[in-house]
Amino acid sequence: MSAVPSPSRNSRITGVVDPVRYTDGYSYRGSRLYCEGVAMEEIAERVGTPAYVYSRASIEQAYRQLDTAFGKLPHTICYAMKANSNLGILRIFAALGSGFDIVSGGELYRLRRIGVPGNRIVFSGVGKSREEIREALRARILLFNVESAAELDLLAAEASRLRVRAAASIRVNPDVAAGGHPHISTGHHRHKFGIDWDMARKLYLAHRDSRWIGWQGISAHIGSQILTLAPYRQAVSRLAGFFRDLGRAGIALKYLDCGGGLGIRYTAEQPLDKAAYAAELARIVRPLGCHLLIEPGRSLVGPAGVILMRVLYTKENRGKDFVIVDAAMNDFMRPALYGATHPVTHVRRASGRLTRADVVGPVCESGDCFLQDWPLGKTSAGDLLVLWGTGAYGFAQASNYNSRTRPEEVLVSGRRMQSIRRRESRADLVRGE
Ligand code: LLP
Repeated sequence: MSAVPSPSRNSRITGVVDPVRYTDGYSYRGSRLYCEGVAMEEIAERVGTPAYVYSRASIEQAYRQLDTAFGKLPHTICYAMKANSNLGILRIFAALGSGFDIVSGGELYRLRRIGVPGNRIVFSGVGKSREEIREALRARILLFNVESAAELDLLAAEASRLRVRAAASIRVNPDVAAGGHPHISTGHHRHKFGIDWDMARKLYLAHRDSRWIGWQGISAHIGSQILTLAPYRQAVSRLAGFFRDLGRAGIALKYLDCGGGLGIRYTAEQPLDKAAYAAELARIVRPLGCHLLIEPGRSLVGPAGVILMRVLYTKENRGKDFVIVDAAMNDFMRPALYGATHPVTHVRRASGRLTRADVVGPVCESGDCFLQDWPLGKTSAGDLLVLWGTGAYGFAQASNYNSRTRPEEVLVSGRRMQSIRRRESRADLVRGE
């Protein structure tokens, strides 16, 4: 049996971990935690707990910092909406002029619902169905990132049926090692993603004069939660070489899509400086005279979101303290799924000695544990706590396990809070059964 990733032990964390210091959009006023201009206590009072809370300013700032970092280089940020696909969040990106990276017909549907035009959308994913391909062709999307020879055949067939030319790119598998946890690294040849260089070249040439496939670009995505420049440098340099090679073979491309993957700080990570990342990509890409696409997800929304939750009980088992909260692994999977460490702090700033406890949810699994031996300090039933860095791959990966209704989602903009998804009801729970 393979080892089950368990939430990491945190006994090595000694001092105070205070994400408020490195998270835009959140601050203390006196001893009370605020998201922008709204007290977390007020949010709990108005919508209950657990609740996802997002800071609009944090998202806007992350987007603008990245956008500005590329300066005059022709580029489009295509937000990888799998990270957080709430319509309220998507509207923020649409208003900023962002593009979008989608991986399903469902994601396309969400974008159509808020009026995003097709030419702002790129479509990635190893298993696009015929129906999804058709929908995206009808929407006249900017780019299909094709991931297999068979998919390319299907794309050509569907394009010919609809009498439209598909704007396409091949997602190559650049064969570099990158990314944090093994479940989220994608750019190595043993992963299911992309097409190897030789096969990619054959396919570009085979469809060079095709009526239904219009080669527009080349793309790669090497992994997620990447904290160093080296894998980007390696992958993008290879892409650039390939881009030139294709040019010599008579295939002039317009787009070079470098995927997403920028890591963020959860506890002690040192994220890449956005300016350094942009400068490095620009240095390699500028001489090609092409248009750069990037597909960041986590780095744009991750830090903006938290889960606001309440302590149900505390208990001690043979000298070990447990804090049982009303959020659980179904609401937020990352600790159970990847052994990820997301800090928890009090909404009322704690004082006194930081006693340790395991922070666990009510679901009937030992894996339903957000943190072990976490220096949380004195905690009582009824206290409000915050689980940090949950804006990306948070609600998007939530489930109804244990027949728990999924949380409310709240967007804070300055002094205004707005529900962008109401808490699920019991009726929602059994809809369709
Ligand atoms: N583009 C493609 C083709 C992708 O597959 C992904 C993420 C992205 C862009 C965005 O990557 P980001 O900038 O967010 O790192 N659930 C995992 C992460 C899975 C990432 C999957 N692909 C987690 O919670 O860590």
